[in-house]
Amino acid sequence: MNLEQVVNALIAENTPKDGAAPVSIINIQKQDGNVQIILEAKLTQADVLSKVQQQIEKEIAKIPGISSVKVALTSHRQQAPLKKLSLPGVNAIVAVASGKGGVGKSTTALNLALALSKLGHKIGLLDADIYGPSMPRMLGINEKPAVNQNKKLIPLDRYGLKVMSIGFMVPEDSPMIWRGPMVQSALQQMLHDVAWTQDNEYLDLLIVDMPPGTGDAQLTLAQQVSLTGAVIVSTPQDIALIDARKGLNMFHRVNVPILGIIENMSFFCCPKCGEVSEIFSHGGALRESESLGVPFLGEVPIDLKIRLGADQGTSVVIDDPQSKSALIYNQIALNVWKELQKVNQCTPSILVS
Ligand SMILES: Nc1ncnc2c1ncn2[C@@H]1O[C@H](COP(=O)(O)OP(=O)(O)OP(=O)(O)O)[C@@H](O)[C@H]1O
Ligand SMILES: [Mg+2]
Repeated sequence: MNLEQVVNALIAENTPKDGAAPVSIINIQKQDGNVQIILEAKLTQADVLSKVQQQIEKEIAKIPGISSVKVALTSHRQQAPLKKLSLPGVNAIVAVASGKGGVGKSTTALNLALALSKLGHKIGLLDADIYGPSMPRMLGINEKPAVNQNKKLIPLDRYGLKVMSIGFMVPEDSPMIWRGPMVQSALQQMLHDVAWTQDNEYLDLLIVDMPPGTGDAQLTLAQQVSLTGAVIVSTPQDIALIDARKGLNMFHRVNVPILGIIENMSFFCCPKCGEVSEIFSHGGALRESESLGVPFLGEVPIDLKIRLGADQGTSVVIDDPQSKSALIYNQIALNVWKELQKVNQCTPSILVS
């Protein structure tokens, strides 16, 4: 039997036999012996759900080669109202994500945050990559955040953004050997033990730069935090789009609206002759967004200024605001803001497991 068959058998064994399947599998992921299972529950009896959850965790953990099992439950919208975790003073939280590594999530998250801030919005930026934080280098920050009288970390202020990263607390070259539960608690602390706002201040939007993949950290965020929406970043080639689709599906399944897709490294425009080269192909994300019925937010070229900015602790949006790339980020920021207004009127319910 494969994992899916085992889980289905355990569901059948531990749920009432009457009516249509009360609990169904949404997704099963296995990585390095860590298994994550997302189930959708159509029933509301807490005792039955908790039994199903516990039995699956217990039985799957017995399978050789499996070191940890996490079962998360999502619910149908018709069910009883479910509690959402929100951050006081933070009006919206948007994740910048992709299934794949190295496609430019952090670069996009930062430039989007800066462009939104320049539009006059109050923006926070959380680097949720516990394994490989980017913001210390991208913003040239090597100071530790202070702690306020309530023992909450005060985010650092850069270019008008409130920024927090695990990288502010540990040196860049120290290895991050976190295990699943530690990642989750570190992330929760980064969200809840940070004074995102002080006194009567508020943030219009907290942008969360997500780590690559659709594992522990993403699930924690997607399930436990009241995410207003997610922005998916992809490079244009098929292989990246397949991963982007996985990331997108994960948010869909936990009822987080997709604000849209950004195509990064879309094309290269030679700074000397102006010739356009489509290094990673071009237009794949636009086609993908059309086929999935989600907004296309824009395409960012491969630009040396973008890479240099990120490496030197600054950004093209700040240093060269009239450059083509900066103007593109401004337009993407406007598009994201427009989509955010649309979904803000109908935020979904998220079950906290
Ligand atoms: N549009 C672009 N033009 C030029 N360089 C870019 C562009 N976007 C990203 N880069 C560069 O590509 C590299 C990877 O980008 P980044 O770290 O943002 O990716 P990521 O998806 O966040 O990676 P990870 O999955 O490791 O978190 C960086 O060196 C960055 O400067
Ligand atoms: Mg990153």
